[in-house]
Amino acid sequence: MRKLLVTGVSGFLGWNICREAKGSWDVHGTVFSNPVKMRGVNTVRIDLTDFKAFNEVFNGIGPDAVIHTAAATSPNYCQEYPAESEEINIDAAVNLAGLCADKKIPFVFTSTDLVFDGLNAPYKEEDPVCPVNIYGEQKVMAEEGILKRYHSAVVCRMPLMFGEPATTGSGFFQSMIKALKEGDELRLFHDEFRTPVSGQTAARGLLLAVNKAEGLLHLGGKERVSRFNFGLLMMDILNVSEASLVRCSQKDLKMSAPRAPDLSLDSSRAFALGYDPKSLREQLEECLEAWI
Ligand SMILES: NC(=O)c1ccc[n+]([C@@H]2O[C@H](COP(=O)([O-])OP(=O)(O)OC[C@H]3O[C@@H](n4cnc5c(N)ncnc54)[C@H](OP(=O)(O)O)[C@@H]3O)[C@@H](O)[C@H]2O)c1
Repeated sequence: MRKLLVTGVSGFLGWNICREAKGSWDVHGTVFSNPVKMRGVNTVRIDLTDFKAFNEVFNGIGPDAVIHTAAATSPNYCQEYPAESEEINIDAAVNLAGLCADKKIPFVFTSTDLVFDGLNAPYKEEDPVCPVNIYGEQKVMAEEGILKRYHSAVVCRMPLMFGEPATTGSGFFQSMIKALKEGDELRLFHDEFRTPVSGQTAARGLLLAVNKAEGLLHLGGKERVSRFNFGLLMMDILNVSEASLVRCSQKDLKMSAPRAPDLSLDSSRAFALGYDPKSLREQLEECLEAWI
């Protein structure tokens, strides 16, 4: 089997990619502060900002393709620690693209819908970028650096993702399930829109991109939804009362990183390649199966 190297397999997306790729790839993964072990995946613990060490690991594995998901992923953290986050979000990503370029192997980078300002959705790949926070700016710089270094690289802009976390993590989705099930108050924006997909759907899109794409590719879902309506849909599937859900506005919450209103992606290019997300309800039902 061909060797696939996935960075960040202790994170949400990396873990989901490993689950999807096992069976058709010989999967190798990197972890950093959370040294998780996964059955069927050879994991290596490494700080990807240590380029010399990573170079050795890379050559030791000899991958046939790479999907790079490792990153500082909290916009608020990046806003407060721009220098620290830049090392992993820009420098490591461009260096890794360079290693793949030298070997002429597929390289897929996970960027974000946050490269846009949210004022002109839905966004196509060729629309001009205009991030509103430092995390988005770092992703734009990584995208540009990667494509300059390696024309055949694939830059996938990911939407909001939900689903089962890696063994170490828990994300917004798990907090929502807990609040809904326990009847705690859940405040959700009615004025922030995304095109979300499950981690499994995103993983399938990225694996498709390894073989079929080049350049920019949007991997959003087929439905545009506000965070509030996303919560309503979850309540309906979980069959819990609507009493604890509170409609609120982006301006009600003060956060370090500014937020964009509508980051919906137009992913028709990926759909034409065979990326085929199920309806949001179906994806949510699959993810919530354990709780229904
Ligand atoms: N989740 C979303 O909704 C979403 C939306 C749009 C785009 N994205 C993008 O998708 C990618 C994956 O996101 P995610 O949600 O899976 O992130 P995540 O759960 O926060 O995981 C981040 C991963 O990066 C690793 N990492 C961080 N710093 C590292 C370093 N210096 N060296 C090596 N590894 C390091 C972490 O390792 P340890 O845990 O072991 O420290 C972890 O495995 C990211 O590029 C993110 O920007 C995510």
